[in-house]
Amino acid sequence: MTSLLSLHTSTRQSDSFSNRILADFENQFFDLHPQTVKVSRFLGDIPHLDFDAQQAGRVDSEKHDERLRSAFALANELTDELLSASALVIATPMYNWGPPSSLKAWIDRVINTRTFYQSTDQLADLPVSVIISSGGLYSEGENTKHDFLRPWLLECFSRIGVRDLTFINCDPAGPMEYGRIDPSSSESGLSKALRQVPEAAKRARS
Ligand SMILES: Cc1cc2nc3c(=O)[nH]c(=O)nc-3n(C[C@H](O)[C@H](O)[C@H](O)COP(=O)(O)O)c2cc1C
Repeated sequence: MTSLLSLHTSTRQSDSFSNRILADFENQFFDLHPQTVKVSRFLGDIPHLDFDAQQAGRVDSEKHDERLRSAFALANELTDELLSASALVIATPMYNWGPPSSLKAWIDRVINTRTFYQSTDQLADLPVSVIISSGGLYSEGENTKHDFLRPWLLECFSRIGVRDLTFINCDPAGPMEYGRIDPSSSESGLSKALRQVPEAAKRARS
């Protein structure tokens, strides 16, 4: 059974722009890939690495003793979900010019000896779509130099062998949040992002 790994981070539930775009992405994805199941995670549930977990991720799993095996259990499960997915979609806000700590916590678990220290092409054909909502406009124009989220994601995913990463940009979200622009108008950040979804949602590996 193939899967869409769907990760979300916003705590704003139905007010969240990234969550709204994610719902649209999922609908379109499952229309096009009906045999696929959804594996969904709210990344706020993932704890930051403690000492044992960070050690475990850096020691080959064949060399794990009982302590490291148990400390690696969550990372192992998240890595299985990543490696077996036919597509990955992440919905995230920008927080303080970078990722929310919950997204960092997921990345800190999945970059481990099973992914980073590998020379295989196991993730080369995995399509990754990242929906980003930010108050200001960071995907184009003057502010791109203050955007540490997209460059950081590109670095992390390329380091584990991902070759197909696309961003769906919901920005600027501020004018919608503060009622200065109607989210349904064609010039809104939300409408811009929704127009990017059909192309991104087509992609899946077999
Ligand atoms: C803690 C925090 C930090 C934020 N930092 C930024 C920022 O650096 N740049 C920005 O443009 N917006 C920033 N925002 C605004 C969010 O990116 C914006 O509200 C976004 O739409 C939230 O995503 P969501 O609608 O999916 O919840 C921040 C919001 C919060 C709560």
